[in-house]
Amino acid sequence: PNITYVTVDGAARSVEVPAGTSVMRGATSNDIDGIVAQCGGNAQCATCHVYVDEATIDKLEPAQPNEDDMLDFTACQRRPNSRLSCQLKVTSALDGLIVHLPERQN
Ligand code: FES
Repeated sequence: PNITYVTVDGAARSVEVPAGTSVMRGATSNDIDGIVAQCGGNAQCATCHVYVDEATIDKLEPAQPNEDDMLDFTACQRRPNSRLSCQLKVTSALDGLIVHLPERQN
């Protein structure tokens, strides 16, 4: 599936991310800056925060309680489209997903 990461300055990069991995891994394994992922993907750090583009938000399932709780600890303001990218498991349903990286993660 193809996922697009947009940095704060508006630069967009689209990459192929293998199914079964996460939106967080798609960034870190392609040297896309803006995701820290301190806890390594365990929903315990909130440094993999992304804002999902409204046009593609329907591709995602709602956040589970552990993700929802941790979203209260993001460095940048939580918005209705805030998600933890490590909890977004990549499947074919996510093809075309667009996420915006926040200004900072900690
Ligand atoms: Fe730590 Fe996502 S990598 S919460």
